[in-house]
Amino acid sequence: MYDKIEESVQFLQDKTQHFKPRIGIILGTGLSNLEQSINCQFKVSYDDIPHFAKTTTTSHKGELLFGHIGHIAVVAMSGRFHYYEGYSMQEVTFPVRVLKFLGIEQLFISNAAGGLQSHLYPGDIVFIKDHINLHASNPLRGNNDERLGLRFPDMLNCYNTKLNKQALDIASQQEIRAFEGVYVGTQGPNLETPAEYNFFHLIGGDAVGMSTIPEVIVARHMQLPVFVASVISNRCYPIDEINETTVEEVIKVVEKAASKLSLIIRTLIASYDK
Ligand code: HPA
Repeated sequence: MYDKIEESVQFLQDKTQHFKPRIGIILGTGLSNLEQSINCQFKVSYDDIPHFAKTTTTSHKGELLFGHIGHIAVVAMSGRFHYYEGYSMQEVTFPVRVLKFLGIEQLFISNAAGGLQSHLYPGDIVFIKDHINLHASNPLRGNNDERLGLRFPDMLNCYNTKLNKQALDIASQQEIRAFEGVYVGTQGPNLETPAEYNFFHLIGGDAVGMSTIPEVIVARHMQLPVFVASVISNRCYPIDEINETTVEEVIKVVEKAASKLSLIIRTLIASYDK
């Protein structure tokens, strides 16, 4: 794995005149909008990058974008790999390892998620402060390479809650509905039964989705702090208010909210400094 990461990194450095990003971004469902905030200098298709999984027709576009938001150098994944598409957990999370080795200090992740609290409505934004992992497999399963991280990584402080606080402040100044919460990660691709949604609510979940947690685990393994924003696409609690959900509906709702989240992330990144 280590050699493969180095080969991918070498390839990308050659393609981008040794571009040095400080921040990595994973653009989730319906958030391609944020792409427009990036002053893009280089675009590389996933299909050209050695050791990246080959994109399927079901996955999103699949490009790495190198450029700037304000004066901060960023690399953004336009499209991600999901476990439910049939990729292994290692394939799903390989790009996160490559971004870390390209030199990023902070990872921003967005996703679409179901809302598990009665105060959460479609279009609301939840900044993630913790998670509950319900995936049956784990990206760290198998031999551990100590050069990448520990065999038994601690899961305290995965999320950069300082950024959450700043994000909540920006949201309140802009009168955008936003909250902090716990993300429950499921394998998918089916959505959940009312009894399952009720269970996720009872165990302390605020948002539920099919991505992100494998990426967060691998980031944590490599000591890379993450900031996660979930856009609520459908209401999952209380159970008598659950409606049938289609992927088209999810994308429509998230696209509508995307400009709000883009504004928040743009502001956070433009003023980013450790
Ligand atoms: N469940 C799982 N993943 C999701 C949902 C949901 O209700 N909405 C958007 N992603």
